[in-house]
Amino acid sequence: MIPQTTIASIMEAARIEEVVGDFVTLKKRGVNFIACCPFHNEKTPSFTVSPTKNIYKCFGCGEAGSPTNFVMEHENMTYPDALRYLAQKYNIEIAEVDNEKGREERQARDSLFIINNFAQEHFQNNLQHTDEGISVALSYFRSRGFSDTTIQKFQLGYSIEDWDTFIKAAQEKGYRLELLKKLGLAGEKNGRFYPFFRGRVMFPIHGLSGKVVAFAGRTLKKEKKSPKYVNSPETEIYNKSKVLYGMFLARQEVRKQDDCILVEGYTDVISLHQAGIENVVASSGTSLTPDQVRLIKRYTPNITILYDGDAAGIKAALRGVDIILSEGMNVKVVILPEGEDPDSFVQAKGRTDFLAYVKETQKDFIFFKADLLLKDAGDDPVKKSAVIQDIIKTLAKIPDPIKRALYVRECANLLDISERLIITQTNKIKYNQIQKNKERKELQAAQEAHLPASLQELEEIQKAAPKEIKKQITGLDVCERDLVRLLLEFGEEFYDIDYYVAVYIIQQTLDLPPTNPIYQKMVNLYRQHLEEGKTLSKDFFLEYQDPQINKATIDLLSSPYELSENWKIKHEIFVTQIVTNFKPEVENLVDRYKLRWVLKMKDENQEKIKLAQKSNDLDIIELLKNQLQYEEWIKQLTSKLKGVIIR
Ligand code: CTP
Ligand code: MN
Repeated sequence: MIPQTTIASIMEAARIEEVVGDFVTLKKRGVNFIACCPFHNEKTPSFTVSPTKNIYKCFGCGEAGSPTNFVMEHENMTYPDALRYLAQKYNIEIAEVDNEKGREERQARDSLFIINNFAQEHFQNNLQHTDEGISVALSYFRSRGFSDTTIQKFQLGYSIEDWDTFIKAAQEKGYRLELLKKLGLAGEKNGRFYPFFRGRVMFPIHGLSGKVVAFAGRTLKKEKKSPKYVNSPETEIYNKSKVLYGMFLARQEVRKQDDCILVEGYTDVISLHQAGIENVVASSGTSLTPDQVRLIKRYTPNITILYDGDAAGIKAALRGVDIILSEGMNVKVVILPEGEDPDSFVQAKGRTDFLAYVKETQKDFIFFKADLLLKDAGDDPVKKSAVIQDIIKTLAKIPDPIKRALYVRECANLLDISERLIITQTNKIKYNQIQKNKERKELQAAQEAHLPASLQELEEIQKAAPKEIKKQITGLDVCERDLVRLLLEFGEEFYDIDYYVAVYIIQQTLDLPPTNPIYQKMVNLYRQHLEEGKTLSKDFFLEYQDPQINKATIDLLSSPYELSENWKIKHEIFVTQIVTNFKPEVENLVDRYKLRWVLKMKDENQEKIKLAQKSNDLDIIELLKNQLQYEEWIKQLTSKLKGVIIR
């Protein structure tokens, strides 16, 4: 157990901006720092770090807390482990009082690390100081052009090709063979333990702290009887999908270059390092996992994928990239000349020529994919339309609207179809995605990301705003009238670069239907059509086979929605350009509508609370909770509305 006094000094020493800054790139904003939240997926930063309060808070997903909380959440550590981490960071000594269970767990993990460390040193010693190691393995590495420094840097080794050396050495050290087995270093047959790696060159795989979490062993035999590489199994200390080979050595350079080069093989990472290119990691032959992408994203949003020029390499480049895109990363692809891999190519060319080749041939992933698929499809119209669908799906994955719009434009050229057609399709995909619950949460988070970034600011608003805002907003009936009118008149315009006003309105008000039944019908109609990817014109409603809807439409259109000056100017100037942006205006109206709704729910709930109080109803707890939730929403909406001119 960590004594209370030590905990106090850790809390005192830990600066939130320093602790968070080790994992997330922070930008200064006023007295605070902001960043894209590391706990949920977002495109606009809503993650705020307040040095004065020594806390972080995300306005998108609600994560908040102290430096210790951050380490626990982000690094998935227990409370004591987070304290130990911080103690180490701030050079605070912990005189631990013993606690059985925690100590055992830690010792169990520690012993796995200790054994891996032993194995790594053992393999390294084999390579450098045994006859077999020197003649078979060291000569192999040298023949591959690896220098002694490189061999040291990557702690490369060799496993002797016999059945007892390694086991004996472990026994002499007093290690439990069961643990060796658990780590995949030993096998067991009829109660006898034997070394799992035999006659292989050994590549230790390091975790972010530089400790060895696993091994890969490469055979030196030409025949194909045994697999080229064998790897350690997953253990408490090794989660394959979360580790990237080389990240421990690469991360500083990745941050510095603001780019992470991704290759397939261990030897590719090693050769690039030797050539002085250090911002490189390997996915180890499998396609990237979301966790690995997030690991890279801690250091940079840019990935350059380097793949072999063979068909398999190219297929690998296509796989998995959609997940990188949906994480909001920028992906470039470099295809090496036929028959080369990054290792052979950098050794042949040297650093300068290699980097020049990368620079000249790197292609944006989406264009790379479009090009490749189009070539494949040739003149076959069926194939070509499948390609178009495929590309559109990829485009819809890009979270940033400006980036997406640029790609849409380029792809429209490339595919020889209209921009509008692509946009309609991506809107359809996005719309349907958002229908799914999970995505809806993300949308809410993204939307809440517009909240004020500073905690102080938020508090001020909470104190000052509600009355002032309440005065200015009109009743729900007027708001919903405006909303439906906006939908009719401007639904087919762009809310954002490639995002229809209608899609935004409908998505945002899914749970808050208009109270007027006719309006409700109209909104539902619109929603059904959006699901098919269609927007609706005024004429649709004017001609719809329901006289009540025709009449409501005429009423709405005869008193047109009054655009603010700002909007009018934008509308006239930009409507034909891709930068059309009604965003603030549309958002403002939608927010006012929402605020009206929540105020109404709050009033209704207040009545219920009164009744429940009278009758001592137990449901009152739930009602009070709801009330708090409503108040929270109102706070958020009013603060959001505050900065905007209200009609
Ligand atoms: N790989 C694996 N198991 C295999 C083959 C490959 O785990 N049986 C992974 C390894 O991470 C390897 C990567 O896929 O590094 C790329 O495979 P390959 O290009 O065949 O290996 P290289 O690393 O290039 O090794 P070498 O240059 O020694 O052939
Ligand atoms: Mn290779």
